[in-house]
Amino acid sequence: MNTSPLSLFLPCAAGVEGLLADEVARICGDSAQQVRAARGGVTLSAGWPAVMRLNLHSRLTQRVLLQLMVRPYRSEQDLYEAAAAVRWEDWFGPRQSFKIELTAQHSPLKSLNFAALKVKDAVADRFREQRGSRPDVDTQRPDARIFVHLTAESVTLYIDTSGEPLFKRGWRADKGDAPLKETLAAAMIAASGWDARTPLYDPCCGSGTIAIEAAQIACGIAPGSLRRFGFEQLLPHQAAEWAALKQEALAARHAPTAPVFGSDVSHRMVDFAQRNAQRAGVADAVQLRGGDALQRMPPTEVPGVMLLNPPYGERIEAGGVAGAQRGGREQAQVEGGSGDFFAQLAAHWKKHYAGWTAWVLSPDAKLPTRMRLKESRRIPMWNGPIECRLLRFDMVAGSARRREGGAGDAAPGA
Ligand SMILES: C[S@@+](CC[C@H](N)C(=O)[O-])C[C@H]1O[C@@H](n2cnc3c(N)ncnc32)[C@H](O)[C@@H]1O
Repeated sequence: MNTSPLSLFLPCAAGVEGLLADEVARICGDSAQQVRAARGGVTLSAGWPAVMRLNLHSRLTQRVLLQLMVRPYRSEQDLYEAAAAVRWEDWFGPRQSFKIELTAQHSPLKSLNFAALKVKDAVADRFREQRGSRPDVDTQRPDARIFVHLTAESVTLYIDTSGEPLFKRGWRADKGDAPLKETLAAAMIAASGWDARTPLYDPCCGSGTIAIEAAQIACGIAPGSLRRFGFEQLLPHQAAEWAALKQEALAARHAPTAPVFGSDVSHRMVDFAQRNAQRAGVADAVQLRGGDALQRMPPTEVPGVMLLNPPYGERIEAGGVAGAQRGGREQAQVEGGSGDFFAQLAAHWKKHYAGWTAWVLSPDAKLPTRMRLKESRRIPMWNGPIECRLLRFDMVAGSARRREGGAGDAAPGA
């Protein structure tokens, strides 16, 4: 097995870099060196065993990339020469297929398609020279994926070890209109500092992403245990070591350390979430129910953590009581968004959820004003292209009556 240090780059959503660096350190221990949060990801130096371990255990990264070359460029010909100098034949063979994925920031080149074509030609030509034949391109199900990243001045070439992006855990076959990526749900859980000992509840759970991620954590289930990875097709792959690592992960599963709950006003969604939980191996570790977040009482006597991405009013409107007030439909599509919903939700929490901490992911900068609550933390996070914040609200025990209707109810500046 190749144990010499490899330069790895683990891309993640903006805002998640610090959490990912902590996760990498936890997963790899001493086997990773120079773990650094960079822009849009984490860099580190580690061996092949860490590559397998990170793919299997990371909840936060989108993929695990091996950096093979970085050098300055100015033209397409420079890209060709850079790609032709990489020993691709160490990673895959001429009978396998490959694909080029190219991203760029401020590249001076006119056509990124042409740039990708030049890299493809360089890889093919190198194989012809070194091995006498060349691998085919397959854009759908390639054996090997080559990632090219261009900045204004430099090109970086990577071989991907993940294959399908890591947010595809393999359990979410059923989803609604606005599902959260599993990696972002995991980032919300990590940012909240949930310790997997106190109860966790998502009252707008949709297809169950947050609750299922949390239940897997509570049960010690590795996020990648249901899927396959790109590295299994690469030449350095060692099946016996990989089988042992998977076995170790299987043996680490345990009974849940904390209760996890989810509910949604849409019974169809609860049904989806239940089926997803089953596939994820946590059907017994998460309790899923139908019900309006404006009416549901705490699922446990012991206060815990609420974690949710509620209906934004863009793809999904608030349903239940708030929806009915606006037109009597389960998912009313009316002007004015979900404003009333949030005021009512805050009032319900103040009254019934004393002692709980609520973490809400929202693109709405005015959400605290609408809820008449002052957030105690505000963490920037991107939900795909949507700029959001994860807001923490502390439902202080005993403060509900004092606050209701009083001046102390309003967020400063509201
Ligand atoms: C943005 S989606 C949540 C997506 C979820 N995190 C997932 O990954 O599938 C918002 C969810 O809130 C639900 N919802 C809308 N109004 C609600 C209400 N009054 N009470 C509870 N859930 C509600 C919708 O049915 C939808 O599933």
